[in-house]
Amino acid sequence: MSRVLITAGASGIGLAMGQAFATAGHQIWIVDVDDAALQAAPDGWYRARVDVSDETQVAALFAKVSEAWGGLDVLCANAGVAGPTARVEDVALKDWQACTAVTLEGAFLAAKYATPMMKAQNAGAMIFTSSTAGIYGYPNRAPYAAAKWGVIGLMKTIAMELGSYGIRANAIAPGAVEGPRMEGVLAREAQAKGMTRDQVYEGYASGTSLRTFVTAEDIAAMALFLGSDAAQRISGQVIAVDGHTENPDPKP
Ligand SMILES: NC(=O)c1ccc[n+]([C@@H]2O[C@H](COP(=O)([O-])OP(=O)(O)OC[C@H]3O[C@@H](n4cnc5c(N)ncnc54)[C@H](O)[C@@H]3O)[C@@H](O)[C@H]2O)c1
Repeated sequence: MSRVLITAGASGIGLAMGQAFATAGHQIWIVDVDDAALQAAPDGWYRARVDVSDETQVAALFAKVSEAWGGLDVLCANAGVAGPTARVEDVALKDWQACTAVTLEGAFLAAKYATPMMKAQNAGAMIFTSSTAGIYGYPNRAPYAAAKWGVIGLMKTIAMELGSYGIRANAIAPGAVEGPRMEGVLAREAQAKGMTRDQVYEGYASGTSLRTFVTAEDIAAMALFLGSDAAQRISGQVIAVDGHTENPDPKP
């Protein structure tokens, strides 16, 4: 049984990850900033209100994990926020920073404070949620794309720094995930581009070989695999779960 900590674990992809690991018999600890969603999470899961961009809160979290669990087997560094929808010249520095603080610095802080525990046990798996925005450019979403590329640089470096301690690091790059978050993205992008929500949706779906969005459960299944012994020799990889993006955002 693995001890699995998931950031932004109270909804969306993080919640689906928790459900997948729990169903496979693992122990779950979720952190999030949404109190109601934290409360609604399944019984038996550890939970804590933690803003991943706040170093003091993250440090205190991992001290508690160490006390309660004595170690950590799998970290899903999953938190990320969409940030502003605007061309680079129109992005305010504070909006850039608000996006990267959670999406990139949050991943860094979780990895930083998980590392001593994993090093001490000479084992562990870190799974970062990047995005297809971390593989391609993403017109109107520069802070998000830059942060998600940054997550991949962080992951690859951690894989190299910690491989000799038996610690693996990989990233998942989800494509557009069905659900409320993507509905918000579609609405904002439709407004920015003068298109309808359905036209923007079609643009995303038709940019993939499988002509599809993906589900949170698709991403969770990949996380479960990457956290398992079946993936024991896989590290330093970015694995897209996206229906194969051929043509990202063809209409900037
Ligand atoms: N939904 C998509 O289409 C999509 C595509 C690619 C990548 N992703 C990435 O997947 C991850 C999860 O996204 P999702 O779709 O499940 O989003 P979501 O909006 O459904 O859930 C995100 C959760 O993060 C929490 N959160 C926000 N700020 C936080 C903070 N500072 N500290 C801790 N928790 C915080 C929210 O309260 C919420 O519960 C993100 O990194 C996102 O960038 C999502």
